[in-house]
Amino acid sequence: MYAYDEIDRTLVNERVSEFRDQVKRRLSGELTEDEFKILRLQNGVYLQLHAYMFRVAIPYGTLATNQLRALAHVARKYDRGYGHFTTRQNIQFNWIKLAELPDALEDLAKVGIHAMQTSGNNMRNVTSDQWAGVAPGEIEDPRIWSELIRQHTTLHPEFSFLPRKFKIAITASDHDRAAIKIHDIGLRLIKNEKGETGFEVLVGGGLGRTPFIAKTIKHFVHGRDILSYIEAILRVYNQYGRRDNIYKARIKILVHELGIEKFSREVEDEWQHIRNSSLEIDDEVIEDIRSRFTYPAYEKLPHMPDELRQAAADPDFEAWRKNSVAPHKVQGYSIVTISLKPTGGPPGDATAEQMDALADLADKYSFGEIRVGHEQNLALPHVAKRDLPALWKALDKLGLATPNVNLITDIIACPGLDYCSLANARSIPIAQELTRRFANHELANLIGRLHINISGCINACGHHHVGHIGILGVEKNGEEVYQITIGGRADESAALGTLIGPGVKFDEVADVVEDIVEAYLALRERPEELFMDTVKRLGVEPFKERVYATR
Ligand code: HEM
Ligand code: SF4
Repeated sequence: MYAYDEIDRTLVNERVSEFRDQVKRRLSGELTEDEFKILRLQNGVYLQLHAYMFRVAIPYGTLATNQLRALAHVARKYDRGYGHFTTRQNIQFNWIKLAELPDALEDLAKVGIHAMQTSGNNMRNVTSDQWAGVAPGEIEDPRIWSELIRQHTTLHPEFSFLPRKFKIAITASDHDRAAIKIHDIGLRLIKNEKGETGFEVLVGGGLGRTPFIAKTIKHFVHGRDILSYIEAILRVYNQYGRRDNIYKARIKILVHELGIEKFSREVEDEWQHIRNSSLEIDDEVIEDIRSRFTYPAYEKLPHMPDELRQAAADPDFEAWRKNSVAPHKVQGYSIVTISLKPTGGPPGDATAEQMDALADLADKYSFGEIRVGHEQNLALPHVAKRDLPALWKALDKLGLATPNVNLITDIIACPGLDYCSLANARSIPIAQELTRRFANHELANLIGRLHINISGCINACGHHHVGHIGILGVEKNGEEVYQITIGGRADESAALGTLIGPGVKFDEVADVVEDIVEAYLALRERPEELFMDTVKRLGVEPFKERVYATR
């Protein structure tokens, strides 16, 4: 966990009182909604279909149990008893009352949580691997660097009025769980030949109307230079990024229009000016941040405890363990993913009761720590293997042991027309229907790893472009129509999906997905050939034929 210092706390508290004053002036009519908009956006407050929507940052997806309890408290006291975990390590509350927002922010500030820069044209929450610090084989804990960038960019004047929002993600593992290739800047921690820590830097990724996979701009930037290098990129973006057309304002468009070579020359030029400046990071700064991340006092435990061996006789436990439990870098421990995708439920939602109960379980079984991942699931990062059976029973009672992590019902979905004022179509009911269609866990396991991602409009909050099966809601003649793509992925081999044909109606989406899955099961060469591998081998044609032959 990271421990805030006095400076962090003062900043967060000052921000709350400033916002309290702004809300007061809005409520009294002294500020118009237009004048208030820029102020509220800087504090993560949107105006949505039914109410204000409040977005809270969870930097690099790490939460202490008192923080999770504070989020539960906000859900219970100021909202309708639940919160929605998003694809960017944020949580959103959909029914907040403006007059109560400053109180909610104050309650969160007490535990070091804020909503700064969760909206607006600035540097957004710096995200990372939800298994950071515990994943076997990781170069080092990427959160140290996420925190460095977070501190440097929070309320930084140059990054507060960018042409458009800006997102950075960091991974330190071979397997990319942070989706770095669909971020404005993606950072991959690596070691050079001398054994020094640095980064491969990628730039220009992003989804939305014009999706791009990020390109490598530099193969190795030394850790001490990472702030100056990022700042050089942002300066070039600030200077050349388009401000006349919101659809062309993201850095991905600039990179695309200039070409990565020209763009990188500009960055290199800028970098030479600022490289050996105060932006160069002293070892002590990194050491200071590193020392604020504390790790649990792990015990020396056996690799295979008796409790686990005995529980293996229970097929229900085994079904859950197989998909939810991952190896940990310390022997005798595991990382446990908690699915927020129950059959028939809205993906990513957790009730206040579930959040509180999870905090209790994290205290009991995971050294008081919880993680939030971009697939809208949670994780307990340090569970002793001997505790897995007891944890599973407790999760099951809470409705949090759905054994579907990474399977077809582990769906990512944006709020769509149920909440979002930009939506063209519903997303949540599509996800709910699909989880019901594939509720049979044996079938889901037979299908294996398959990610479905759903967005209610072209903005792509539900990452539809990078879903193995992507579903995008559009509006046609007043009707919801869904375009289906296949072959997208958001990991280290990130790719954008290919559209398979004309859009289909709301009622047809689940049938179409079933057709695609049946085609895959018939076409795969062996059970181990995953959906993505079959698509890679055969292209989209056979799937297209199957879906449209009878439509
Ligand atoms: C309901 C309030 C929301 C609004 C008004 C909203 C608005 C937007 C807009 C306008 C974009 C496109 C930005 C661009 O390309 O310049 C976008 C992108 C995105 N949003 Fe949302 N969003 C909302 C909720 C969410 C939720 C709930 C999630 C997660 C489930 C989310 C995650 C994202 C992500 C991951 C992108 C990807 C595009 C990219 O930056 O590459 N947003 N959002
Ligand atoms: S993808 Fe569209 S509908 Fe979905 S949350 Fe984003 S803006 Fe709203």
